[in-house]
Amino acid sequence: MSILKDKNILLGVTAGIAAYKTAHLVRQFIKAGANIKVVMTPASKDFITPLTLSTLSKNPVYSSFTNEDDDNTMWNNHVELGLWADLFVIAPATANTMSKMANGTCDNLLLATYLSAKCPVYFAPAMDLDMYKHESTKISFDKLNSFGNIIIPATSGELASGLVGEGRMAEPEDIVAFIEADILDKLPLKGKKVIVTAGPTYEALDPVRFIGNHSSGKMGFEIANAAANLGAEVILVSGPTHQKTSHSLVKVHPVVSAQEMYDEVHKHYKGADIAILSAAVADYRPKEIADKKIKKSDSTFTIELEKTKDILKSLGQQKDQQFLVGFALETNNELEHAKGKLESKNLDLIVLNSLRDKGAGFGVSTNKVTFITKSNEVIENELKSKAEVAKDLMYQILKQVNA
Ligand code: CTP
Repeated sequence: MSILKDKNILLGVTAGIAAYKTAHLVRQFIKAGANIKVVMTPASKDFITPLTLSTLSKNPVYSSFTNEDDDNTMWNNHVELGLWADLFVIAPATANTMSKMANGTCDNLLLATYLSAKCPVYFAPAMDLDMYKHESTKISFDKLNSFGNIIIPATSGELASGLVGEGRMAEPEDIVAFIEADILDKLPLKGKKVIVTAGPTYEALDPVRFIGNHSSGKMGFEIANAAANLGAEVILVSGPTHQKTSHSLVKVHPVVSAQEMYDEVHKHYKGADIAILSAAVADYRPKEIADKKIKKSDSTFTIELEKTKDILKSLGQQKDQQFLVGFALETNNELEHAKGKLESKNLDLIVLNSLRDKGAGFGVSTNKVTFITKSNEVIENELKSKAEVAKDLMYQILKQVNA
């Protein structure tokens, strides 16, 4: 999954021949899972039609302050457009538009939107080689750079003029790859390794039966995705579940029993920076596993259980540089129990789930949690989707790690 998935990308098209490539660029962004809106300078419509770009982006294309098709009674709100965008990508960026951007000129909708946008701005210059090298263009580059705008450098090759040199707009695939790499590079967990456990464990009784629980694994998978969205390399050790993730930074390590989860987690713990144990691990397992299916005989049947190894506790004992997070599912004296676990298992943070809260716990897509930190800070949260809870948790971890 691309880091651009679900991002709102505003594509600004200006009047250069490379504008014809923006059809392909829009396709690439869509393929990456982004939402696209396009804003064009009036002159760029001579190079590619708004109809092409609106069809491909599945959104109206904006090129003037008012909507001509609507007798100019509809105001195209540049502020809204600028604020909608998570990223503003201007491709191709002509010398003219860059100079206007650099100097605060605001004589078309694209430029007004540029001045209104608060998000990161990328621009992919495209022009003839002498224009590209011109001092005035360099001044534009420097000024835009000083505003924090990011240049996607032009490449060398044959230009529309027939001359060969620098000035060709980067290819659409390369523009997308450049932006993805740039975002990843700046993410707060870039280069960090995060272990997440998820789902239930199944403890075998015989070849066909097991003791398990109703954990869906959803919370753990959401945490793994949230950590990966911050740039972390995630090792997701999961018990049996139907959950899936296609995030390129998440590697799923499927396990079945508590012992397998223990072994797999310990394999990766040494080099990890953060470990978040959200799995509902069985606390007990059958002492004996029958090698053949157990036949029914007496009217009652007793299974002797023995304790499984406490993965979280063992990680707490071996803790080095890792930031360790546990979960506690409680029904009474919640805070007291959770704080007790935080201390006894040597955790940095514990996520408390109270079964008394409606919408929290197993099998639902929402959760209501309280974070308790090592310094005894208690942070209560509203009932939220598990995806939101996962984001809140990662934010809280980042805050604590950087404190
Ligand atoms: N956990 C673990 N290994 C186990 C059992 C639990 O790593 N064998 C982890 C869970 O992933 C969770 C936390 O420990 O992060 C839950 O703590 P635990 O004390 O086991 O909670 P409960 O099972 O609720 O304990 P109790 O029944 O004593 O309340």
